[in-house]
Amino acid sequence: MKLCIDDANVEAIKRIYDYYPIDGVSTNPSILAKTGRNPFDVLKEIREIIGEEGELFVQAVATDVEGMVADARKIVEVLGKTTIVKIPCTQNGFKAMKICHAEGIRLLGTAIYTPMQGFIATKCGCEYVAPYVNRIDNMGYDGVQVAKDIHDAILGSGYEYGGLLAASFKNSQQVLELTKYGVKAVTVAPDIIEGLVKNAAIDAAIDQFTKDFESLVGEGATMTSCL
Ligand code: G3P
Repeated sequence: MKLCIDDANVEAIKRIYDYYPIDGVSTNPSILAKTGRNPFDVLKEIREIIGEEGELFVQAVATDVEGMVADARKIVEVLGKTTIVKIPCTQNGFKAMKICHAEGIRLLGTAIYTPMQGFIATKCGCEYVAPYVNRIDNMGYDGVQVAKDIHDAILGSGYEYGGLLAASFKNSQQVLELTKYGVKAVTVAPDIIEGLVKNAAIDAAIDQFTKDFESLVGEGATMTSCL
């Protein structure tokens, strides 16, 4: 399963890329708005950090078909052909996806709240679809189950190029459920990625190992220094 960062904070992306096995970065217009900077300036910096092989997800913002296709072409022109354009799974979005797919633009179907949105986007050529897990939970439905249903529908129909980039997580349990299910990818905010190993029990275990070792060979000693 691929693990991506759902954020546009350049410092957070650098830090998490440094420590964790990360496959890419996803953004959306709201995430870009939080930076307060020109979107393409931020996105170019992110592209530099993650390299050409890193998967960078950038959303088309126009809402009409021609505008979405123009946004998609511009995104790929500026940020490289490996960039994956996010297009909302609306009626206009589906038409734009078909045009972009015919041009060889890599696509992700976004703003997904129902399984059939994900299925149709895949049929339009999207290599990823992004169900909003936590937002679905907040509507009183089961976001993890919607994501699983889309995963099953894509696999069941034999669309081997397709799969999930599950998004909108608010806790590590939601991420774990989909990890166990074998989805293609998840995109997770920096605080949740770093929170995966923030745990008093882990800290206590490490502290005890350090204390025990120091009681054996002296304060501050490590395997490197104890010979
Ligand atoms: O990019 C879409 C998704 O990640 C939104 O997440 O946290 O705003 O629900 P959130």
